[in-house]
Amino acid sequence: MSKDIILTGDRPTGPLHIGHLVGALRRRVEMQNSGQYKTFVMIADAQALTDNADNPEKVRENVLQVALDNLAVGIDPAKANIFIQSQIPELTELTFYYMNLVTVARLQRNPTVKSEIADKKEKFGVSVPAGFLLYPISQAADITAFDATVVPVGEDQMPVIEQTREIVHKFNSVYGETLIVPKGILEENENARRLVGTDGNAKMGKSLGNVINLGDSADEIAAKVKTMFTDPLHLRVEDPGNTKDNPVFIYLSVFATPEHFAAFLPEYKNYAELAAHYERGGLGDVKVKKFLNEVLQVTLKPIRERREEFAKDPGAVMEILRQGTIAAREVAAATTDRVKRAMKLDYFG
Ligand code: TRP
Repeated sequence: MSKDIILTGDRPTGPLHIGHLVGALRRRVEMQNSGQYKTFVMIADAQALTDNADNPEKVRENVLQVALDNLAVGIDPAKANIFIQSQIPELTELTFYYMNLVTVARLQRNPTVKSEIADKKEKFGVSVPAGFLLYPISQAADITAFDATVVPVGEDQMPVIEQTREIVHKFNSVYGETLIVPKGILEENENARRLVGTDGNAKMGKSLGNVINLGDSADEIAAKVKTMFTDPLHLRVEDPGNTKDNPVFIYLSVFATPEHFAAFLPEYKNYAELAAHYERGGLGDVKVKKFLNEVLQVTLKPIRERREEFAKDPGAVMEILRQGTIAAREVAAATTDRVKRAMKLDYFG
């Protein structure tokens, strides 16, 4: 039996953060290490340009940053294939063919695209770039080019995967069975699926100033934890506290393991015990934050150290990407041949 194939991607618009770590990267690495999947990790620079057309330097610089982040969390070029989207022209070619299978109205109705357009009103001005509206089509090309069966994504991307599935069904019904229908999969832990910012904002982002990056120094992490929001009504230690909408507790529910409790806060066995005490009253924010800082420090230290190690030799990282891109292109080219044959675009044998 052939292995399942995973394709995932990140837009290189900034370094990756702990939201990416728990929402996508951890799962990606686990799946890679399980040996059950053939894993493709794409750096989606062409897609990043759909809303950063005027900022090619930013996209270019972040290709390396995103590669470092992936390597730092454990994507292993011996087991997975990491590559750069723009260097595979077949992906653009497939996009062009799939464009005929999707209506403009359907793209405008895509909930992900719709909400992103709303968020980017200022950036886009009176009208949206055609490339941005069409990015779900290009994403369908990314996914189908590798015959991906499984696409681990963040929650916000699910409607884009749904649109890929529609494109595949449409293609197969018009041109005959050619493409694989992929399945999107989400991280199970809901708090991890969409990790809130350090201020509790539902979105974590550089422009919001509420993000802890994978490459942050120990001091940066400590400073960010110190200024994290908690329950604003928990004024005195004796007061009962709310853990639900409290970013410090949300982070602990995602990051703190029983081993962390044993090492740093042995009065409690696990998250549930700690949360119960806070809710009862009698547990202060300072103590909880101190613990969260310890948890994040031990979690992020090995990642940061690996990142620094790889960052010493950017040439070697680019070589990993170059090799990955060559191998990925072969796969995408074979799929494109298959697609063109199905579409009767194979004139010269
Ligand atoms: N749109 C994805 C994001 O913003 C990135 C991406 C591009 C992607 N192509 C992909 C993800 C293919 C999964 C599969 O996060």
